[in-house]
Amino acid sequence: MPVSRGGGGESGAGRGSADGTDPTTEALSVAGWPGDGGGNLAPSGPATPEVEVIRVVGGARLSGEVHVVGAKNSALKLMAAALLAQGQTVITNAPRITDIAIMGEVLRRLGCEVTFVDEPPVGRGPARSSTITIDVPEELCSEADYDLVRRLRASICVLGPLLARCGEVRVAHPGGDAIGSRGLDMHIAGLARMGAEISSEHGFVIAEAPNGLRGATIWLDFPSVGATENLLMAAVLAKGVTEIDNAAREPEIVDLCQMLTKMGARIEGAGSSTLRVEGVDELKPVRHETVGDRIVGGTWAFAAAMTRGDVTVTGVSPTFLEIALDKVTTAGGHVETRADGFRVRMDQRPRAVDVVTLPYPGFATDLLPMAIGLASVSEGTSLVTENIFDGRFMFVQEMARLGADIKTDGHHAVVRGRERLSSAPVRATDIRAGAGLVIAGLCADGVTEVSHVHHIDRGYPSFVADLRALGVEAERATAPEEQSFTL
Ligand code: EPU
Repeated sequence: MPVSRGGGGESGAGRGSADGTDPTTEALSVAGWPGDGGGNLAPSGPATPEVEVIRVVGGARLSGEVHVVGAKNSALKLMAAALLAQGQTVITNAPRITDIAIMGEVLRRLGCEVTFVDEPPVGRGPARSSTITIDVPEELCSEADYDLVRRLRASICVLGPLLARCGEVRVAHPGGDAIGSRGLDMHIAGLARMGAEISSEHGFVIAEAPNGLRGATIWLDFPSVGATENLLMAAVLAKGVTEIDNAAREPEIVDLCQMLTKMGARIEGAGSSTLRVEGVDELKPVRHETVGDRIVGGTWAFAAAMTRGDVTVTGVSPTFLEIALDKVTTAGGHVETRADGFRVRMDQRPRAVDVVTLPYPGFATDLLPMAIGLASVSEGTSLVTENIFDGRFMFVQEMARLGADIKTDGHHAVVRGRERLSSAPVRATDIRAGAGLVIAGLCADGVTEVSHVHHIDRGYPSFVADLRALGVEAERATAPEEQSFTL
């Protein structure tokens, strides 16, 4: 293995018996997964001077088939929705990633019993998905503390369901993160319109509705995914009718509406900008399959285009990626679609395309690093505009280390394409930037090492195993932070 260096193997968080060559060890090495399928979080031990890295050999051409499992951003909310009904909820096709393990811990601390069982993988290699069983007691604890919320910003999505179930809730304020400031004002204003009294004290958002929530008309200033989900999960048990206008329309919200409807909720307008919810007294637990991850699917589509490869992606509907796949076609790629997947083939150097991120069905902000990556190796100049998160361009400094020619001005980036990037040690700053940097490394001359790959583990199950299956020379290793790259 030409990339083999340093700490050896794919072991992570002090776990696993990785030998550096077996891709099946990767899933077990993800922090938070004990390897027994239990999904218990690893105890946070003393700080270590080592970091997890992924090394890839550039000049790769991705070729083959890759299966995408359920969406992180759906499964997290489906887990929160389980809180709305006493009894046993079962969620299948949940991705085997760190964020889901942390959400399991959030639910445990609220009083639920949560177990994870690996599902057999589609194709070779390690398990990439789990069935999650959540036993919800009659009485829930209504406090989610900072220790977990800071590790998983999405745990704020327990705010709505807990308020609906318990009449009170205290959730730590998650703060901003590496992609932006990330406000909560629309969550709070919407719940207040439904009759909740909300305050903020000592880093907690505290909401109370001792007499229950009541239906209301809520106009969102922006179609926020998280606010739509929180308000929806609060509205299903409120008294009367709630209308959420300018609601987010993402496929993950449709998935949540489908599960809530199976539970007995009355929801009209799923997938449109107006959600009408008639509150019911009680919901029942159900079994639900998580919708396929369009962002992971889109990541492979761009990776195929950037490496002039030929990749078939299964497990996700191409209708969720219409604009993204259209960009790949405009860049010169050939895209064939089928009900549960698509094939992307690129036979030439991609042509520059402009991209503007917008709420769904617009081009997803989570694919922005991939769009920048494609632009970096395309013929011509691309204008990439980010409209969702103010910090999304932070990672372009790392792309510059790979030789990309990118100038940002506010929420625009001008990218002048280069024939080939230049390998370098770079650092993942968030989930999507991390994956984008690894893929950019495939278009560089030599070995690129991406450090802090715990970010990638938060969103991509078995990323290295999938890269290898597509013909990439890639490995995962533990390396001392200060000497994590020694070409
Ligand atoms: N916003 C406010 N006030 C609010 C709510 C949102 O100002 O009350 C702002 C945010 O600060 C941000 C914008 O609105 O600038 C969009 O935020 P949104 O609420 O739509 O996003 P989110 O729910 O926090 C989810 C995904 C993100 C994804 C965005 C946009 C989850 C767990 N996260 O975040 O996914 O980028 O929607 O599609 O569902 C990722 O998976 O890597 C990721 C970041």
